[in-house]
Amino acid sequence: MSSTGTPARSSWSGKWAFILAAAASAVGLGNMWRFPYLAAKYGGGTFLLTYLVLVFTFGVSLLLLETALGRTTGQSAIGAFKQFGKKYAFIGILASAVPFIITPYYCIIGGWVTKYAAAYLINGPEALADGGDFFTGFITSNTESFLWMLLFMAIVFIVVSLGVKGGIEKANLIMMPALIVMAVAIAAYTLMQPGAAEGALYYLVPDFSKFSPELVIGALGQMFYSLSLAMGIMITYGSYLDRKSSLTQSVTRIGCFDVGVSFLAGLMIVPAAFVAMGSGDAVAGAAGPSLMFITLPGVFAGMGDAAVVVGFVFFLLVLFAALTSAISLTETCVSIIQDGAGWSRKKALGTVIGVVVVAGIFVNLGYNGLSFIEPLGAGTTLLDFFDFFSNSVLMPIVALLTCVFIGWIVKPGLIVKEVKLSSPFKAEKAWTVMIKFVAPVLVVVILVAYVAAQFGLFSM
Ligand code: PHE
Repeated sequence: MSSTGTPARSSWSGKWAFILAAAASAVGLGNMWRFPYLAAKYGGGTFLLTYLVLVFTFGVSLLLLETALGRTTGQSAIGAFKQFGKKYAFIGILASAVPFIITPYYCIIGGWVTKYAAAYLINGPEALADGGDFFTGFITSNTESFLWMLLFMAIVFIVVSLGVKGGIEKANLIMMPALIVMAVAIAAYTLMQPGAAEGALYYLVPDFSKFSPELVIGALGQMFYSLSLAMGIMITYGSYLDRKSSLTQSVTRIGCFDVGVSFLAGLMIVPAAFVAMGSGDAVAGAAGPSLMFITLPGVFAGMGDAAVVVGFVFFLLVLFAALTSAISLTETCVSIIQDGAGWSRKKALGTVIGVVVVAGIFVNLGYNGLSFIEPLGAGTTLLDFFDFFSNSVLMPIVALLTCVFIGWIVKPGLIVKEVKLSSPFKAEKAWTVMIKFVAPVLVVVILVAYVAAQFGLFSM
């Protein structure tokens, strides 16, 4: 069970390239808009603390499991599970379905972000701050939103076509540091706005009266999506990793990146939106796309001459976050097909491009043309459905199967051995308890809660 003997397989140029790629995959739209809104909703600091604890216990344990599984098998998800018997391949197949479902709609939102970055320069900040007409007009305008989606996809496909070292590593090396610098600058600037300090306090100071089971479930779901768990990505990325790199240290660093950027995103967005809306509850109410595409442009427009720069830089940094995640999603799809069908990288990429473009067009039609399809009830779209199905249903199922598979069928010893090839494993016992007992229970809780919430049986 080793990756040697398969010379055609890609590999990272070093441990840092791997950490950066995993962080680039983790840091995405989820950090940029979902995290701030959840933090606003669940009492700021209370949510931050809960999230921090979950990432560094549950989150890094699963990251470690997936990365070690990838490295020990030298395969992407399907092959990795199949090595233990044909009957387990279905876990890998389920995991692999996730990136195929997410990539098309992720690129649609990526197209919106690209459009907004450009619109700050072309249309100016006032045009975007019209209370929502600009946004609605744009997403329901089939041709225009298709074109921006295609532009976003084109960048992603070009980077992936350049390969792991020549494309993905280089793109991450430019975009990740740039993203962090821009985030720090925007956060500093928005915090200097009048009234922002009060918003920052709301964001930072824990309000323990808001601690609730819903908060924990919300934080758990966010953690899954944000760390790109349970969809085969980390298995693929682990399979490109050499045996010298310490896995425990790497996954801790990936967690730090993800939490750090989420924290910064909250610092950019919550105080700014707080100023505009007057209270934390109002910010929490502006959940989902409206916070980023309607509320924030309203805030930026009030910044006078700085509005163009702040708006443009903000959407550029969100664009970088979206691009690096979309690149990692696409790479995972490519490696799944490459390994599964035994095709060349080129042929696999061509297939992925075809599937993603066609599926993207279909999902985009959900805003106009196919908007009569309301899969999750009145007012919902195809995009909402795919988002719900992948994040709230498939990912928890895959995570549960993975934990049971490693914890009870293969036995944790296999992963422990792989981890110890490159570093001591101080948390071995705690990790084993986590994978065998704690994680499966938590995952079942998320699954039940999310599905119940979707059908109105539970409110989150
Ligand atoms: N983790 C990314 C985010 O926070 C989303 C993502 C999910 C990226 C799955 C890759 C794979 O937005």
